[in-house]
Amino acid sequence: MILPIYLYGQPVLKKVAEDITPEYPELNTLVENMFETMHQAEGIGLAAPQIGLAIRLVVIDLDVLSEDFPEFKDFRRVYINAHIVETSEEKEAMEEGCLSLPGIHEKVTRPSRIRVQYLDENFVEHDEWVEGYLARVMQHEFDHLEGKVFSDRLSPLRRQMNKTRLSNLAKGNVQCTYKVKRVLR
Ligand code: NI
Repeated sequence: MILPIYLYGQPVLKKVAEDITPEYPELNTLVENMFETMHQAEGIGLAAPQIGLAIRLVVIDLDVLSEDFPEFKDFRRVYINAHIVETSEEKEAMEEGCLSLPGIHEKVTRPSRIRVQYLDENFVEHDEWVEGYLARVMQHEFDHLEGKVFSDRLSPLRRQMNKTRLSNLAKGNVQCTYKVKRVLR
């Protein structure tokens, strides 16, 4: 089932999301729906707050990048209760976009490597260092779990440059190819 994606300005995108337990109702269906919603919107990552749920659940599918990055062939993952526990001093800038902020693409500076703790879809614990493109996508998605979107990470100047776009988004003034949840005016 395709779910509406919550746009910038929706209060749920500013909430710190909560951990869940294996008893969370209909978790498998929710994960399936999140993958379907993300694929339909042509995204590579989707966090539960973007579909209106303040829980620590993220799906990532990097298979679409596998022509350039063979290591991402069939790379489809579920991250439950994810937390970034350490980051490298080294940082890099990379362009980002977000299904909750359609039409905005900006370079964001983030740590190059991160140590993450999470549970997979079988509730098996993982604790690993991640780098490269995956580290980037994870940081973007896990930010959603902290109530942050990538425009919060822009310099004051770049934020100023996007001010009109952001305020239009927050008013629900946007054309979108996928189903969205707008702020009611
Ligand atoms: Ni996003």
